[in-house]
Amino acid sequence: QNAINCEPLKDLVRTVPDFPKPGILFYDITTLLKDKAGFAQMIDALAAHYIGKDVDLILGIEARGFIFGPAMAYRLNAGFVPVRKPKKLPAPTAKVTYDLEYGSDSLEIHLDAIEPGQRVVIVDDLLATGGTMQATVQLVKQLGGEIAGLAFAVELDFLRGRQKFAEYDVFSLLHYS
Ligand code: PRP
Repeated sequence: QNAINCEPLKDLVRTVPDFPKPGILFYDITTLLKDKAGFAQMIDALAAHYIGKDVDLILGIEARGFIFGPAMAYRLNAGFVPVRKPKKLPAPTAKVTYDLEYGSDSLEIHLDAIEPGQRVVIVDDLLATGGTMQATVQLVKQLGGEIAGLAFAVELDFLRGRQKFAEYDVFSLLHYS
């Protein structure tokens, strides 16, 4: 399904043990982003999945969705919409609150960011448990957007976050098990 073979990009991802907490192996994509060929290939491969699918908007989730979203939007001739942490957006917003391991977090989107029926791809750097993406899906539904796909640079297969999105097209470039 990957039109472009992205496996070699994994060589550019740095693994950092015990970050941000003991026992967590962190997949650091900054080493991939700074590689000009690697970055281009990653954006091309992400965008390629949506060519011909009539995408109106790319939504990027703060913070690392902002790395991929605008570049994909430019490639796909789509608009870009930021989904932000609370109190960052100036105009009226829709807000969703979701559970974390300890406590909760919220995300906001401008109420006028999506017109009903617009076709939206949501992008983030990482699919872990899927809680962040699930919250963003709720925001898109509230605003009447149609979800054309969910995109990730990295998916942690063993956390099975994908199971939350059975009814959607979920596309991740790099898989770790
Ligand atoms: C990370 C990552 C995703 C989310 C994935 O963000 O960038 O947004 O976690 O986890 P989930 O699938 O379990 O929801 P983080 O919470 O570290 O926030 P940040 O991007 O602002 O650093």
